[in-house]
Amino acid sequence: MKNLIVNLNERSYPIIIGSGLLAQTGELIEQLNKGKVLLVSNPTVLNLYGDKVLNSLQQAGLNVNVATIPDGEIYKNLQEASNVLDKAVCCGLERDSLIIALGGGVIGDLAGFVASIYMRGIDFIQIPTTLLAQVDSSVGGKVAVNHPCGKNLIGSFHQPRMVLIDIETLLTLDDSEYRSGLAEVVKYGVIYDRGFFAFMENNIDEINTLDNETLQELIYRACTIKADIVNQDEKEMGIRIILNLGHTFGHSLEKLSGYSLRHGEAVAIGSIAACYLSCQMGLMDTGVLENIQKIYKKLNLIPPYPDIDNSQVYEGMLNDKKVCQGDIRMVIPLNIGNYHVLSGVGREAVEEALAHTKVFCGSDYQ
Ligand SMILES: NC(=O)c1ccc[n+]([C@@H]2O[C@H](COP(=O)([O-])OP(=O)(O)OC[C@H]3O[C@@H](n4cnc5c(N)ncnc54)[C@H](O)[C@@H]3O)[C@@H](O)[C@H]2O)c1
Repeated sequence: MKNLIVNLNERSYPIIIGSGLLAQTGELIEQLNKGKVLLVSNPTVLNLYGDKVLNSLQQAGLNVNVATIPDGEIYKNLQEASNVLDKAVCCGLERDSLIIALGGGVIGDLAGFVASIYMRGIDFIQIPTTLLAQVDSSVGGKVAVNHPCGKNLIGSFHQPRMVLIDIETLLTLDDSEYRSGLAEVVKYGVIYDRGFFAFMENNIDEINTLDNETLQELIYRACTIKADIVNQDEKEMGIRIILNLGHTFGHSLEKLSGYSLRHGEAVAIGSIAACYLSCQMGLMDTGVLENIQKIYKKLNLIPPYPDIDNSQVYEGMLNDKKVCQGDIRMVIPLNIGNYHVLSGVGREAVEEALAHTKVFCGSDYQ
């Protein structure tokens, strides 16, 4: 078992990472000393892991109710949040009660959002069960639901009291979901930590085969980086923006593909495009680009490039919610572990970077 702390003064909390932790949920959260608990999940995750978690909570003497929302991003909405709030009221959740989010990023974001508004905010803990949720969405306190006009438009910052990561849950995850989470993990190395990048380069086979010890180290190091960035910039006023590497290209590609590209796949393509952009501007060495491309291919993170015109991708980028008054600002890597925030990125540069990326996506890289 490995532990680390997100350091936010009175809002600090532990992240506990290990194997088989679900069956110990009750004792691990005992210190929070809560009476009533509302477990929020979806039918997929509840079927797989509900019994383990519920038995453990009941053995610890906790009074547990369960709220489920249907499986899927489309249910990360205000109506489902409202249903969970109804459940919280009906089962008499009080100011000192606890909400537990058991599932991927959709469940974590929605349950955390409910916890942030119920009685002006009650405690919640995250038990993330996808790789993306374990290394990214469960850490940092961004909680939200979607609005028909855009993702995560209704939300708040509400830090969990604890994050419990049981890496065994990854064994039931679809390979494509696993790769989608890995794209975010690689991003941390590229943008922030050369040592972590080298660790991944040296453990490609172990990562691809979900070796237990390697996964524990991988998730621990990824969470350490995310926690370090959140510690410096909780509300995304500064350095937290670097977590958006590849996202400006990625969001546009994701949307234009009609969401046939998964988020992680789109971010992986977007990250490579950002690297090309950096090379075009003479800010990154082509040798560095080669190393980055290699790891994305070896971890099987690059899908076929979607059939989309590059000029459309540029237009889509202009509509990104992080683009202000037509100024495309984005994070680009300079070297591994080092970044720059680029402003005023123009159409020509974007389309050229995408043209290179398209060729790369279609290549057989050794
Ligand atoms: N809050 C943040 O900082 C932040 C950061 C990144 C992403 N997000 C959000 O996260 C969401 C995406 O999260 P996600 O990728 O985890 O998707 P998800 O929650 O939809 O989970 C993906 C699928 O995996 C299933 N699943 C979950 N755990 C499983 C397991 N152990 N075994 C088998 N199946 C399992 C789910 O039921 C679902 O069908 C998006 O809504 C995104 O906006 C939030």
